[in-house]
Amino acid sequence: MEHRTIRNLLLGSGMFIIWTLSSCYNDNYQTLYPSGPCDTTGVTFSATVKPILSTNCTGCHNSNFPSGSIALDTYSSVVSAVKGGRFLGSIQQAPGYIPMPQGAGKLSDCDISRIEAWINKGMPNN
Ligand code: HEC
Repeated sequence: MEHRTIRNLLLGSGMFIIWTLSSCYNDNYQTLYPSGPCDTTGVTFSATVKPILSTNCTGCHNSNFPSGSIALDTYSSVVSAVKGGRFLGSIQQAPGYIPMPQGAGKLSDCDISRIEAWINKGMPNN
């Protein structure tokens, strides 16, 4: 009886440890290692750029409500904003630009690098 209880306890805590360890694998690599490698290959408008802008920008920059006359909710509006010459400097928060996103933290270095990579590829609509 005693032995069985101890064995069950050991089994139970073993399962708990395995569960705890395995749950780590669900975490996002970029969150766990913010200074780790940033993958800028294969960036696309739909999978990379649009989600970043939807999360951080389109609340203030959309076709119905374009703050500073800049909309960022469609492919063509983003291309116009980049060509307008104020886009990259504002997210890099470079001197001479109004830092964006307004009232929130700077985009992560990785997100900025990904957007730069997409611009450098010629802003493909993919
Ligand atoms: C809380 C609202 C808000 C958010 C969020 C926001 N913006 Fe803005 N943005 C503004 C306003 C308002 C202006 C106009 C500021 C002015 O003219 O003084 C502006 C101006 C700009 C400009 C012109 C900057 C310049 O130097 O001329 C760019 C480019 C821009 N935003 C891009 C972005 C991008 C990209 C994001 C997301 C990363 C973003 N904004 C997020 C409100 C916002």
